[in-house]
Amino acid sequence: MKLQEMRSTNFSRFAAERNKLVHTFGALAEIGQEVSNKHNFQETVRTSLHLVLGSLGIMRGGVVRYTRFEHELNMVSARGLGDDFPFGMSLCYEDERQFLANGLYPIECDQARVLPFFQVYDRSLERAKIELFVPLVVRDELLGGIFLGEKASGEQYTSHDKEIICAMGRHIGVAISQRNLMAELERRADENRRLYDDLKMTYKDTVKAFAAAIDRKDKYTEGHSVRVGKYSEAIARELGWGEEEIEGAAFAGYLHDIGKITVERKIINAPYRINAKESTELNKHPGAGYEILQPIRHPYAGVPLAAKYHHERLDGRGYPDGLYDREIPYIAKVVNLADAFDAMTSDRPYRRRRSAQEVFEDLQRNSGKQFAPELVTALLRGVIRELSGESKDKTFRKMLGREYMESEGLMPMVRTALNELAPTTPLTFVAHK
Ligand SMILES: [Fe+2]
Ligand SMILES: [Fe+2]
Repeated sequence: MKLQEMRSTNFSRFAAERNKLVHTFGALAEIGQEVSNKHNFQETVRTSLHLVLGSLGIMRGGVVRYTRFEHELNMVSARGLGDDFPFGMSLCYEDERQFLANGLYPIECDQARVLPFFQVYDRSLERAKIELFVPLVVRDELLGGIFLGEKASGEQYTSHDKEIICAMGRHIGVAISQRNLMAELERRADENRRLYDDLKMTYKDTVKAFAAAIDRKDKYTEGHSVRVGKYSEAIARELGWGEEEIEGAAFAGYLHDIGKITVERKIINAPYRINAKESTELNKHPGAGYEILQPIRHPYAGVPLAAKYHHERLDGRGYPDGLYDREIPYIAKVVNLADAFDAMTSDRPYRRRRSAQEVFEDLQRNSGKQFAPELVTALLRGVIRELSGESKDKTFRKMLGREYMESEGLMPMVRTALNELAPTTPLTFVAHK
């Protein structure tokens, strides 16, 4: 060959090599970008596989993901492998050990027949004309693998090709590793959510058991705690609170009188108006309730405070601390209204429950003195929405009874109370001693 011809051949070979290099670098960069873009995992792997095949002119191939617990390689993306290529391939301990020891480097299937994996899947690999298997080992972890068929040119894989495959394989391995990490995070989040739900269920059951225990001790006000819970919930719902807070209000109501378990049964059950001494004893129940509830970790922080302050009044004439309006925790105001509403609307040993008219007049009269006006408004709104059928909820009907809810002229009465309350009542009480 003449010198000039030799030069020209060398030059064109060099140019071809250079073009190939530029092309593979481009493909490598694209895979890197594909992995770092948080695309759909399946799509990322599919695109990466196509880039590997395309950049080296490989006819067919597939990427599998290794699931450690099942010891299985599962197909994520394949091209041209045919329908009978196994979707899942199980690995034995020895396979895994060998692949880990091999690291991320292409194994020639022909020369690896000594390994159990290639013996077991020999026929499938042969049928699909697989030449290379690349174990995707990243940071000493087997994450999957790439199967590669023959090159379109019919040429053997060069060591240069194999290096490119390694570099691209590392990117695909990282994509699988990221996906595994995300899956693990999701699994843990799910587990936490389940644990939290279980814990909440336990809390709910405990609260209900306590409420039942309090109500059993107080035989004349049977069901009082449960009703106060329901009314607190109804008020919170009318106020537009979130579901969690509404539930919190219900629990605060259920537990508000828990301190009564420390008060003598004969005082609680006295079939007459109790005397001053007995009254002092009974009035210790908010403090006792707080002591009982405070050490417990509640999902709703206001529960112990509601127990402690549910007998406070806006005008400072309540107990135990005689707090004024803004000093009273809001949840305690909600429970206070629910508590008073139930006291007025249920029979006591020494008196019958009050008529609907008396109750709504009382609420109106004491709005701004004992009760926060916007809470009274919320309660009345809840009653109206139930009366008018606007709300499907039957809380008031269930608690108060049909006879009460259907009493003569109830609707206009509540409407009037509501109209008179809303625009005129000051929102903040000013104490005049
Ligand atoms: Fe109480
Ligand atoms: Fe109460």
